[in-house]
Amino acid sequence: VSVLLVQCSPRPNSASREAAGLLAARLAMGGKLVRRDLVADPPPLVDAGFVDAMRRRAGADDPAFAASEVLIAELEAASSVVIGLPMHNYTVPAVLKAWVDQVVRIGRSFDPTPAGKVGRLADRPGFMVVATGGVISGDGPTRQPDFVTPYLISVLGTIGIRNVCFLYLEALRDAAARESAMVAARKWISAQIPLVPEAVS
Ligand SMILES: Cc1cc2nc3c(=O)[nH]c(=O)nc-3n(C[C@H](O)[C@H](O)[C@H](O)COP(=O)(O)O)c2cc1C
Repeated sequence: VSVLLVQCSPRPNSASREAAGLLAARLAMGGKLVRRDLVADPPPLVDAGFVDAMRRRAGADDPAFAASEVLIAELEAASSVVIGLPMHNYTVPAVLKAWVDQVVRIGRSFDPTPAGKVGRLADRPGFMVVATGGVISGDGPTRQPDFVTPYLISVLGTIGIRNVCFLYLEALRDAAARESAMVAARKWISAQIPLVPEAVS
């Protein structure tokens, strides 16, 4: 077992960090937990050198792909991946978009084919822990658009990770709302990730 935990929240008291951390620790029980903090260590933005290397189909040893190779290797080595993220303006935070642009790489993590893009990574469970200040579920008048869910399903699916599920911590207006969201999150985590005897021993 090797769990990759990707964290994206810039907030010290982050709900997504706390819940994603709990989930990853439970998944990794008895195994390895690799942490990738995109706030402490933001991935480079796509620049001219990166685009040129992509266009030339440069090899994995091209310096323009240095960060990309590290991040893809982390994913390849993981038996499951947990991403904790806040919703920022209806979609993923910019640091996670930067990570996606390094990881979803043509000719490396996916291939274009006449039938569409085909992922090169083996499928593995992906757990997305999404925190929002407002409401994204139901059909109430304050419901906001959610570009996080379809986006993450699409980009992870592109590289071969199709077994993806979502844990939402919604409407985090105040400390009480955060506390009840965490109670629900803990329940969800225990239900989703039963402690199998091998993992406990
Ligand atoms: C720049 C920025 C944009 C945000 N945009 C949204 C948004 O579109 N919808 C929403 O519900 N909450 C939005 N929020 C609120 C955060 O999603 C919310 O505070 C969440 O709890 C942050 O997750 P965290 O506790 O893990 O840091 C935004 C916060 C920031 C800082």
